[in-house]
Amino acid sequence: MVVTTGSDGITPHEGWSSRSAFILAAVGSAVGLGNMWRFPAEAGENGGGAFVLFYILCVVLIGLPVLLSEVLIGRHGQSNAPESVRRIAAESGKSSKWAILADFGVLGAFMVLSFYCVVGGWVLYYIGIFASDLVSTGLAGGAFEGRPAGEIEGLLPGLFGNGALMVGLHVAFLATTLFFVARGVSSGIEWVATWLMPTFFVLFLGITIYGASTGGFDETITYLFTFDFSKLTGPVMLAAVGQAFFSLSLGVAGMMTYGAYVGRDVNLASTSGIIASADTAVALIAGLCIFPIVFAAGLEANAGPGLMFQSLPIAFRDMPFGSLIGLLFFIMVFFAALTSSVSLLEAPTAWFKDRADLPRAVATTIVAGSALVLGALAAWFWGVPVPGVSSMALFEEQDLFNVLDTATSKVLMPVGAILTSVFVGWIASRRLIDSENGLSGGLEQIWLFLVRFACPAVLAVIMVVGLMG
Ligand code: PFF
Repeated sequence: MVVTTGSDGITPHEGWSSRSAFILAAVGSAVGLGNMWRFPAEAGENGGGAFVLFYILCVVLIGLPVLLSEVLIGRHGQSNAPESVRRIAAESGKSSKWAILADFGVLGAFMVLSFYCVVGGWVLYYIGIFASDLVSTGLAGGAFEGRPAGEIEGLLPGLFGNGALMVGLHVAFLATTLFFVARGVSSGIEWVATWLMPTFFVLFLGITIYGASTGGFDETITYLFTFDFSKLTGPVMLAAVGQAFFSLSLGVAGMMTYGAYVGRDVNLASTSGIIASADTAVALIAGLCIFPIVFAAGLEANAGPGLMFQSLPIAFRDMPFGSLIGLLFFIMVFFAALTSSVSLLEAPTAWFKDRADLPRAVATTIVAGSALVLGALAAWFWGVPVPGVSSMALFEEQDLFNVLDTATSKVLMPVGAILTSVFVGWIASRRLIDSENGLSGGLEQIWLFLVRFACPAVLAVIMVVGLMG
């Protein structure tokens, strides 16, 4: 374990073994189901090009400045997220109440973790399906040979109808996450990132090249990059901002927590740039990987959450080596999802461990156990509108799973980002911020302008327009 000292100079504190370990872990947190499953689904449901362009703008002008702010808070505070904010507030002579911004973040991470692991369970299910298909039909043919499209499409609703199986898979995914987080920062979280992220990138590249060669590529480019201004409504903009935050792991204390394990010698600005670029590239390439396969099979782009779990498996049916490609695809998604879920569990764990003064393994188990219950309820009551809550306009008849998703990506994450940028831009001392951000000259001025004015104002407007939309 790599041990450094906390900002008090005394308390031993875990940390990443190197800058590249931090980059891999942070890219691992960012790249996940948000890129492979949520981004293509959101782009498909929100009109394609308009959403994609606005999403990229959000990443550059809002996401990146907020990412740097979050990592900076963590690195300076050298503690769990709320404590890091409290320390910076104290050092800047401001109220410790600002820590509430990270308290909400920790809560948000816990909520995302709960539904994220349910989807992680679906990924495990499809790994099982493709593995058994490979064993029974052999390498050469497509997947699910001879089975009608309706039957393949029915696999996901079939899973939704089996509450016990869905809960069991959720527990299996969460238990795997727990196993690594309980081992600590360098021997658990860093280990997962160091082994799984490079493997993910190799598989990702291979499958994308395969996808591009299936045809449907021109159609995909037109679909993803034709910008139709009329489609950019308030709700589409809010969905794009929410997706940008979800994808960059922002607004829920995850990046603050990881920032606390970064060494003093690391330049946070350039590192944040690498993390945001890698994440955005993976999201766009995931679109370029998934849509051609879907279009080549003559399927619709706006299948939403079903795109990855229903349309893609149908497309794999008609492809050479379909079972193998399908299996590798879902293994790849599993790796990406696991490196994200560990960061989601780490944020509340780091807070709870310090707060209750518990050993890491105990704190991790208690937090994961609580997420298990919330996620199990979301899985069990699939499709059942949440009484009371679902009558609110924002949650229109949603079940617990979707309420958790909407509440975090459309409310908690943007609000967390507004508060974070106000805190870094206006509350924290300028000297402290200058010493941490790794920027100078014009770039520093641009970043300061974005966190002080652009991020809070634009986010507030998008939230109002989007929520009223
Ligand atoms: N960024 C992850 C993804 O795109 O799948 C999800 C996520 C991880 C959100 C960690 C928030 C977080 F703190």
